[in-house]
Amino acid sequence: MLTLPMLEETVQILANDRDTDLYYRLVVRAPQIAPQVQPGQFAHLRILPLQDALLRRPFSIFQVTQDSFSILYKAVGRGTEVLARMRPGEHLSALGPLGHGFTVPSGGREQPVLVAGGYGMAALYLLAERSPQPGVVFVGGKRRVDILCEPDFRALGWEVRVTTEDGSHGQAGLVTEPLQAELRRDPVGKKLFACGPTPMLRAVGKLAEELGVPAELSLDEHMCCGVGVCLTCVVKIRSGEGWEYQRACTEGPVFDARQVVWDR
Ligand SMILES: Cc1cc2nc3c(=O)[nH]c(=O)nc-3n(C[C@H](O)[C@H](O)[C@H](O)COP(=O)(O)OP(=O)(O)OC[C@H]3O[C@@H](n4cnc5c(N)ncnc54)[C@H](O)[C@@H]3O)c2cc1C
Ligand code: FES
Repeated sequence: MLTLPMLEETVQILANDRDTDLYYRLVVRAPQIAPQVQPGQFAHLRILPLQDALLRRPFSIFQVTQDSFSILYKAVGRGTEVLARMRPGEHLSALGPLGHGFTVPSGGREQPVLVAGGYGMAALYLLAERSPQPGVVFVGGKRRVDILCEPDFRALGWEVRVTTEDGSHGQAGLVTEPLQAELRRDPVGKKLFACGPTPMLRAVGKLAEELGVPAELSLDEHMCCGVGVCLTCVVKIRSGEGWEYQRACTEGPVFDARQVVWDR
């Protein structure tokens, strides 16, 4: 992936509405950042009305136009609860696009297989949109309300296979179960791209290794600075005979699954 310079931009909110029972869809006007975004990158938002606005919050970039980008977010704490109350016309400070994203499939015989949990769907959308050929996306969640943007992927011509732990939508169980069945049936030519909670990523990484299928994983680490300075986000990555710490915000969040050391 070509790395372009990150930018700090004061962005205006164009829309900030509920997307599902749990998630909001925020669209901001960002003519400098939007054209630079690569699949799997994120924006680090400073929520200006928040009293301790110094700390930014990271969000995967979901969709882009020439002069805007959107995110899908869940209100889980102080920052996102304040963000959910902000209205069109108000401003945020955005740093982006940040991080090393996914490798866009090059066409030919490679069959992209996406695996998402929760807001992982948001991180994978641009990859699906920019992939020269459609593939299949396996999406999982605890309940129906955890399944995001299924229609957006179907509109791109992708096959969407849904799993919920309570069986309220799609197949009952974990997302890795139908994935495993599909890969065992026909692993040839497939490449996995995954984003979601750490236990899901670990399972996808192990499956990929066992079946010899290449995989890129977007790791979900807590972040403070987002630009490689504070070292909050370090993860263990294989290097030579051993391993070294790398920063999820700069060398990641996307890493080759074979490089990740899973002893955390
Ligand atoms: C690269 C990256 C991309 C992300 N993309 C999205 C996205 O597209 N949509 C989305 O809803 N969220 C996303 N997140 C998580 C998001 O950054 C946090 O939910 C947000 O920072 C919480 O801020 P807060 O002030 O509301 O919560 P806080 O009050 O700071 O924390 C509330 C709760 O959220 C937990 N939390 C905070 N950060 C994370 C994290 N990184 N992972 C898991 N739990 C966390 C805290 O441990 C705590 O339990 C992403 C995180 C990273 C690192
Ligand atoms: S968040 Fe500060 S180095 Fe990654």
